[in-house]
Amino acid sequence: MAVKYKFPEGFWWGSATSATQIEGAAHEGGKGMNIWDYWYKQEPNRFFDEVGPETTSDFYHLYKDDIARMKEIGHTTFRFSISWARLIPGGSGDVNEEAVSFYNRVIDELIDQEIEPFINLFHFDMPLEMQEMGGWESREVVEYYVTYAKQAFNLFGDRVKKWFTFNEPIVPVEGGYLYDFHYPNVVDASRAIQVAYNTMIASAKAIKTFRSTDIHEGQIGIILNLTPSYPRSEHPADLKAANACDLFFNRSFLDPAVLGKFPQGLIALLEEHGHLPETKEGDESLLNENTVDLLGVNYYQPRRVKAKEHLPNPYGPFMPDWFFDPYEMPGRKMNKYRGWEIYEKGIYDIMVNLKENYGNIPSFISENGMGVQDEERFIEDGRIEDDYRIDFIKGHLRWLNKAIQEGCNAKGYHLWSFMDNWSWMNAYKNRYGFFSVDLETKERKPKKSAYFIKEVAEKNGF
Ligand code: BG6
Repeated sequence: MAVKYKFPEGFWWGSATSATQIEGAAHEGGKGMNIWDYWYKQEPNRFFDEVGPETTSDFYHLYKDDIARMKEIGHTTFRFSISWARLIPGGSGDVNEEAVSFYNRVIDELIDQEIEPFINLFHFDMPLEMQEMGGWESREVVEYYVTYAKQAFNLFGDRVKKWFTFNEPIVPVEGGYLYDFHYPNVVDASRAIQVAYNTMIASAKAIKTFRSTDIHEGQIGIILNLTPSYPRSEHPADLKAANACDLFFNRSFLDPAVLGKFPQGLIALLEEHGHLPETKEGDESLLNENTVDLLGVNYYQPRRVKAKEHLPNPYGPFMPDWFFDPYEMPGRKMNKYRGWEIYEKGIYDIMVNLKENYGNIPSFISENGMGVQDEERFIEDGRIEDDYRIDFIKGHLRWLNKAIQEGCNAKGYHLWSFMDNWSWMNAYKNRYGFFSVDLETKERKPKKSAYFIKEVAEKNGF
């Protein structure tokens, strides 16, 4: 078959994962506790089917076979994260040699199989002791994180050339400090804003540290979940709502990461409501001088918003939702197995925005994927026939391809995820992998989409 959508030479084909979601061995190999291990012990009933983070696909023991599978389906790149609590139990102090050995083996195996490792330093999994010191609200924790980052660069930077400081830093803010779906289950916008701010300071400090080591060839970036904010209409009130939503959920991280400063509109809005975070002397130049080399874009669905129907109670707690209401656009296409909108063109809009307003920063799709509940119902002759996922990937790749044709600087595409994995409060509710995993036997089986992506990677298009 002729290739209609061809990608630039050397395009990265791969997938993304995170430590807590795939490693297992939660209490093995000298690993310390993170907030997920802890929260699950406290409140198992808050997790889907009461399944916690020790029940995973066990990549910790099965990594070698998994990497062979990645090779088999044409991966050229693979993103995983280091568990801070595994590398440095407690978050500070000595490095755990068993963890060093594990991550070394993973990296070496990937390189042997000609798959480039992309390492992310933080995917929602704060070591418990660091959380007890105040988590991202604390500047001391920021310093411990920078020390951890430096250790990781020194240990693995001779072989790893793509680093990321954070995955979706807004999620711990929303989950942990605004909407109660991550530990520590605080609902307080002031604290949320401080957490967001300190996270960006931590990211800039880690970037600065990276550049001050001897590792010169590598690139360092951040991974952000960008959700284009579409207004219900062109009415000024709807446009204003979409702009506020964009400031809170995209630009609060995108601007400091890429442009080195927070957007003026956001500062003005927070100032007006008395919610500016605490800052320190030198922060401004730190952010300014340490922007990213590379941007990972996670894209699942857009946000559609409209002007608020009822004015918020000015005496009630300040929330981003004061400025917009969600809008359920009639006729929008849905992933009915997860309840998220599917809007393929969003990927193109993000890329064009990066080109026009963010200096066409080198970027890649670091997560895109389709979660499906009860996926076993699609088994035929022992294999999950996930044609819906193939359509989903194709739809997004077509728009990504168009963006590249128009000069956008997209370097690759990673699916979330390589295999079905444990996901925070949702545990195994929504399945995302190219491979299914039997949670009892740990057996992996390729879904139809695994064969599809193999062909795409081989032809560098479809
Ligand atoms: C992404 C996260 O935003 O969503 C992943 O980076 C997560 O860690 C994924 O697993 C899917 O989430 P859910 O809630 O559908 O399982």
